Amino acid sequence: MTRPDPADLLALAVDLARRAGSLALSMHAGLGRFDTKSTPTDVVTAADRASEALLVEGIRTARPGDGVLGEEGASDEGTTGVRWVIDPIDGTVNYLYGLPQWAVSIGVEVDGTTAVGVVYDPSKDELFTAVRGGGAALDGRPLRCNEVSELSQTLVATGFGYDAQRRAAQAALLPTVLPAVRDIRRVGAGALDLCAVAAGRVDAYYEQGLSPWDMSAGLLIATEAGARVGGLRGRGPSGDMVVAASPGVFDALHDLLVSLDADAAPF
Ligand code: IPD
Ligand code: CA
Ligand code: CA
Repeated sequence: MTRPDPADLLALAVDLARRAGSLALSMHAGLGRFDTKSTPTDVVTAADRASEALLVEGIRTARPGDGVLGEEGASDEGTTGVRWVIDPIDGTVNYLYGLPQWAVSIGVEVDGTTAVGVVYDPSKDELFTAVRGGGAALDGRPLRCNEVSELSQTLVATGFGYDAQRRAAQAALLPTVLPAVRDIRRVGAGALDLCAVAAGRVDAYYEQGLSPWDMSAGLLIATEAGARVGGLRGRGPSGDMVVAASPGVFDALHDLLVSLDADAAPF
């Protein structure tokens, strides 16, 4: 199988992310109807489903045979070695309430490694992109994460899952983390949190419990912007823990999270 050109994958991902984002934006009608998934606070709207349908249809049309993994149910290994990992709306609770912090996230894996990442924020019309080894950009301008060296000066984003027990464990970290850093932000969209690290809008981000579609694109964008990403104790980033930080404060944040056993299963 010939390896696909990352530039072609990027162009398709950008086109699809913009189209899905515009569709979701046009469907927004205030606090409307929604269904719930894993817990009563884990919501899915018609726009999540319509956005995923547009993305899957676009991928199937342009690149039949590619695999797809989507939050709202798309799951197909494919036959080409290329797999699209998509979150049709990251930040659904914000979307539901009319808060602007939500995005379409598309990571494209080639032979199991993320080669391209695109996160499109329709409310601000901001497009974050990255190609492995080719840097990260915001609306075409190169991105560089902040240079910070003191944990006490570090603005840290984090997030909380939908499961009550996991939330209790996540909240239990805060009395130790909050006094150790500049401040905490909880924006409500993991993909945008990772892009915020890349763009220097925060200095670091950590979260337990992310799914592949939350982090696929954002991890590449943060990495290509110079951030250090990982899990705890030498592991890679995963659902157990994702840390993305300015390299000068990664170790300090990592060690603090290790001291709190922040990647322990919450039950
Ligand atoms: C959620 C958001 C949120 C994070 C959760 C995710 P969704 O994704 O990224 O910021 O804290 O862990 O599940 O449900 O809005 O796509
Ligand atoms: Ca998500
Ligand atoms: Ca989602």
